[in-house]
Amino acid sequence: MAAHYQISGTTSAAISGSVETGIRTGALAAGAALPAVRALAAELAVSPATVARAYQELRQRGLVATAGRHGTRVRPRPPVAAHRSALHPPPAPGTCDLSQGQPDPRLLPPLGPHLAALAAEIGPPTGYATAAVHPALAAAARERLAADGVPATEITVTGGALDGIERLLAAHLRPGDAVAVEDPGWANLLDLVAALGLRPIGVPVDDEGPTEAGVRDALALGARALVVTSRAQNPTGAAVTADRAGALRALLAGRPDLLLIEDDHAAELARVPLHPLAGATPAWAFVRSVSKPYGPDLRLAVLAGDEATVARVAGRARVGAGWVSTVLQRLVLALWQDPATAELVQRAGESYERRRDELLAALAAGGVPAHGRTGINVWVPVPGETVAVTALRDAGWSVAPGALYRIGAGPGVRITVSALDEADVVPLADAVARALRPATPSGFTA
Ligand SMILES: Cc1ncc(COP(=O)(O)O)c(C=O)c1O
Repeated sequence: MAAHYQISGTTSAAISGSVETGIRTGALAAGAALPAVRALAAELAVSPATVARAYQELRQRGLVATAGRHGTRVRPRPPVAAHRSALHPPPAPGTCDLSQGQPDPRLLPPLGPHLAALAAEIGPPTGYATAAVHPALAAAARERLAADGVPATEITVTGGALDGIERLLAAHLRPGDAVAVEDPGWANLLDLVAALGLRPIGVPVDDEGPTEAGVRDALALGARALVVTSRAQNPTGAAVTADRAGALRALLAGRPDLLLIEDDHAAELARVPLHPLAGATPAWAFVRSVSKPYGPDLRLAVLAGDEATVARVAGRARVGAGWVSTVLQRLVLALWQDPATAELVQRAGESYERRRDELLAALAAGGVPAHGRTGINVWVPVPGETVAVTALRDAGWSVAPGALYRIGAGPGVRITVSALDEADVVPLADAVARALRPATPSGFTA
């Protein structure tokens, strides 16, 4: 059904501008269907080519997506500022919200004591001339990454993982270029790829990471970049194993045309070893965010890579945002160096692992196969997402529909365990099993 928003305009620019206004004001909600090209053209008394051009421009900017016979719809999170509530509807009142993919705030280190200590020793303000990557942070990051097998000679700092990935993609690719992404994969990355006007190629994921066949196919289809989540893949929890890393390294070796990006957002929270691909291609980057172990509001990630790739990211930042505040960099360094914080992060990792494993075991006991080797999410394949999400909501649980995370992968729901109390594991698993049970055909009596 078409959305009840009157799109106006007689030129392609005016029509696309009108759609953008609708999205910005919330009149065109995420997922809303736009009229068919011919229908809108007739309504506005313009040629179908004019409307088609407007839709194409909106598609290239990542505001809408066209999916064959489903027509053109507003993307789940289009890149224009709108009220967040319009982009991610709040969980149904009275439900336990397991849809958010956030770390448990109770398990994030308190910042107060570190900010107070920093205030006491911070010294004179840093100015334009001297601000840069904080040398002590870079040294500590190099050491931590080297211990995990990442050859981190060149390092820069970005405002989180996604900022780093955006800078990498923008520096290496041009609109229309293809980028291989995990499918299902991180919703925010899919939104970013669309907003940059890039073409996503979905690479299937199993519990060991992106499949070899999937990466081979993506390369054959002309992917110019590949983004791999090292551990705690979102939404499936996959982690790249030693065997998979070996196979992918062999496949990627000698591909001077491919930018390889690794996203290790689980970082210190991960309970499995890192098997990096870093260095398999001449152009590579390894991004490690502090969001999950230390808090998303710190907005900081370290980015290692080959000299040219790091220079492109750092050089472009220098003519734009400049740098990530050295105050923030010093705060992260203080967190890294504090043994009590390390212990808290370790406990958080154990707590997520325990709740995840208990949920997987309870689901398995109820005959529900699910995935979640690492991280804070469990991915449950379902026959139909709307039915599963609605049935779970009615039973008191809000979970995320898999549509946000997939391109061609099968349907599923994502359940975040960070907000799940251990006492709720079995009731939740029972509710999932009930939600997936085929409904008894009406009118049938035994
Ligand atoms: C796959 C993945 N990468 C990275 C991040 C963290 O990104 P950022 O550092 O931009 O907060 C997340 C957070 O959910 C994620 O799921």
